[in-house]
Amino acid sequence: METIKIEHVQVKEYYGKTLNSSQDLKTNACCTDDNIPRYIKNALSDVHDEVMARYYGCGLIAPEHLKGMRILDLGSGSGRDCYVLSRLVGENGYVVGVDMTKEQLDIANKYVKYHTEKYGYSKPNIEFKHGYIERLDELGFDDNSFDIIISNCVINLSPDKESVLREAYRVLKPGGEIYFSDVYADRRVPAALVKNPLLYGECLSGAFYWNDFQNLAKKMGFLDPRLVEDRPLTIDNEEVQTLLGNIRFFSATYRLFKLPALENACEDYGQAVIYKGTIQHHEDILKLDKHHFIEAGKVFLVCGNTYRMLHETRFAPHFEFIGNWDKHYGIFEDCGTALPFNDNQDISQNTNSGCC
Ligand SMILES: C[S@@+](CC[C@H](N)C(=O)[O-])C[C@H]1O[C@@H](n2cnc3c(N)ncnc32)[C@H](O)[C@@H]1O
Repeated sequence: METIKIEHVQVKEYYGKTLNSSQDLKTNACCTDDNIPRYIKNALSDVHDEVMARYYGCGLIAPEHLKGMRILDLGSGSGRDCYVLSRLVGENGYVVGVDMTKEQLDIANKYVKYHTEKYGYSKPNIEFKHGYIERLDELGFDDNSFDIIISNCVINLSPDKESVLREAYRVLKPGGEIYFSDVYADRRVPAALVKNPLLYGECLSGAFYWNDFQNLAKKMGFLDPRLVEDRPLTIDNEEVQTLLGNIRFFSATYRLFKLPALENACEDYGQAVIYKGTIQHHEDILKLDKHHFIEAGKVFLVCGNTYRMLHETRFAPHFEFIGNWDKHYGIFEDCGTALPFNDNQDISQNTNSGCC
């Protein structure tokens, strides 16, 4: 068994002992925007207060079409996202949370019965496991055993991000996806800052440089990472900001499909799809990612990769598919190599977003 890394020890200390609630955070990195759809707000209103108080996520984990799905949450903390998903997958779905910090796990476990009764289920459709997200094999998770993996502000804290993505790929079913929010930097963070336990614990200095993330994701088999949404982080702590200098940080949600036939670029085969408007809570529009807002009933041109993301996944019954692979028409569009995030932050100003 691999030895426990210093970062694991520090992060357990931070989330198990230093922090007692989100009010104790020193920056706004582990905070979520208020822009939450109503059906998620409704599900959140049924989550126990103690679980909510120990939430430290940075994004909204709400992939579409969850009924009956088997979902794994990497770094589930006190269980907020797991309990929301437990409701959205329904009694026939199943949610497993993994976390290495006992104190967080204890709170998650304490309210399994409470939520099972609240949702009117005859038995729990959720469980929490104590372990490391780099070593899912030690928890007995089989290959191809989950439809969806989620994670909220956790992978930045891992000292071995390659193993996390490798294991995620292994346990996902073909056509499954990892849909996760995390913190990213606009450049590689210097080693001296990575060693600072406060900056690391606050989900800043362990953050991926976005292009290193995209390259690693591709190397691990997630060939076409799709950015769903992003926002700049403003830090809101002068001392921390001084240490970080001009490094810009973003909270971003990516979805990575396990589809081995995806290509390196968006290639044009003259294909299109029509969304039937049949996914609950997304009847008018399906937002596959930041660049694909697919309106119901309208012919929507797609590249080969997007076609596969809809045709070879749980979304297939909700689309009509036009075209085939017989003829190639060249590149679909310029995928771009610039910073992918919207950066409306003036780096000379430290403005408040006040999301906490
Ligand atoms: C910022 S908190 C986010 C928790 C939860 N996702 C939420 O939204 O509230 C990070 C969590 O990830 C867990 N964690 C960090 N690195 C981990 C690892 N390598 N293996 C398992 N859990 C980890 C920590 O214990 C902590 O509970």
